[in-house]
Amino acid sequence: MKSVEGKVAVVTGGAGGIGRAMGEVFGKAGMTIVLADVQPEPLAKTVAELAADGVEVIGVPTDVANYDSVCALRDAALDRYGAVHVLCNNAGIGAGAEGPIWEHELRDWEWAIAVNMWGVIHGINAFLPTMLASGEPGHVVNTSSGNGGISPLPSTPQYAATKAAVVTITECLYGQLAGTRVSASVLFPGPHMLRTGLFESWRSRPERFAKTRPRVTPYTTVEALEEQMKAAGVPIAYTEPVDVAQAALDAILGDRFWIHPENPRTDEALRQRTQSILDRSQPDNYLRAVPG
Ligand SMILES: NC(=O)c1ccc[n+]([C@@H]2O[C@H](COP(=O)([O-])OP(=O)(O)OC[C@H]3O[C@@H](n4cnc5c(N)ncnc54)[C@H](O)[C@@H]3O)[C@@H](O)[C@H]2O)c1
Repeated sequence: MKSVEGKVAVVTGGAGGIGRAMGEVFGKAGMTIVLADVQPEPLAKTVAELAADGVEVIGVPTDVANYDSVCALRDAALDRYGAVHVLCNNAGIGAGAEGPIWEHELRDWEWAIAVNMWGVIHGINAFLPTMLASGEPGHVVNTSSGNGGISPLPSTPQYAATKAAVVTITECLYGQLAGTRVSASVLFPGPHMLRTGLFESWRSRPERFAKTRPRVTPYTTVEALEEQMKAAGVPIAYTEPVDVAQAALDAILGDRFWIHPENPRTDEALRQRTQSILDRSQPDNYLRAVPG
C-alpha cells in the first residue's frame, strides 16, 4: 500500500498492548480503526480514549477462537465503513502451563491453539475473500513472536509452537498473494520485552479452556518475571508498544514481509527465506522444489 490515509484497519486484540498501540498509530496516520477484543469492557474504554484523541474508531467484541464471531467482526466493519484494507491478526495469549511438557494440560494446548493459531486462520478465511474481491490495495499483518517464530523458549511450548505456525501460515499467505494487490507481513514484537497484558493472560482465561487441575506454582505476573530476571542477572530492557505499531505501519507502507527487530544474524537468513517463498510461489519452481 502506497498510502494508508482514509483506509480501514481491523485489529484483533485491540483492547490493550500492541493492538491498542496499532489503533493509536494507524489512527494518527489517518486510518479508520475497527478494534476487536474478547474483553468488552477494556475494549470500550480503549475505543472511548482513542475517539477522544480524534481517531475514527469502533470496537467490536470478538472471540477470534470462534469463526462465526470473526465473520461477524468482518460484517460489522463492512457495514460501518464499507471496506477493510488492513487486517492485523494480533490477538494472542500465553497459555500459562507449568512443569515439563509431558505434564502440560491438554487444555493449555487447546487454548493457545484456539487463539494464537485458529485466530489467525479465522481472520484469513473471514477477510481475505472480501479484501481481494474489492480490487483495492490491502495488507495482512499476523503477529508472531521471536519465541517460536525464530527459536522457542522450552518452558513455553504452546506459545512457541503456535507462534511458529503463525510464521509458516503467513509465509504461505504471502506466497499465494504474489501478483495480487494484497500483501502480508509477519510481526515479531521487540527487540525487548513489552510490558503488556500478555504475561497475565491467565486473568481472562475463558471457562471452556479452564484448567482441569489447580496450578502448583503461582501464576506469573510481570513484576514476578522482572524479579526473576533481576535475580538471574538478566538485563531488563523494554520496547514500547507504539514503536512496534509504527514498525508494522512502516512495513505496510514499504511492503516488507518480516517485521522484526534489526538483527544482523537473522537478516540474511530471513532475506533468503523470503526469496525461497517467492520462488516456490511460481508453479514450475514449486514442482521442482518438491522431491519425487
Ligand atoms: N508482549 C510481548 O513481549 C510480546 C512479544 C512477542 C509477541 N507478542 C504478541 O503480540 C500480540 C499482542 O499481545 P500483547 O503483548 O499486546 O498482549 P496483551 O495481553 O496486552 O494483548 C492481547 C489482547 O488479545 C486479547 N485476546 C485474548 N484472547 C482473545 C480472543 N480469543 N479473541 C480476541 N481477543 C483476544 C486480550 O484480551 C488482549 O487485549 C500477541 O499475539 C502476543 O503473542 C507479544
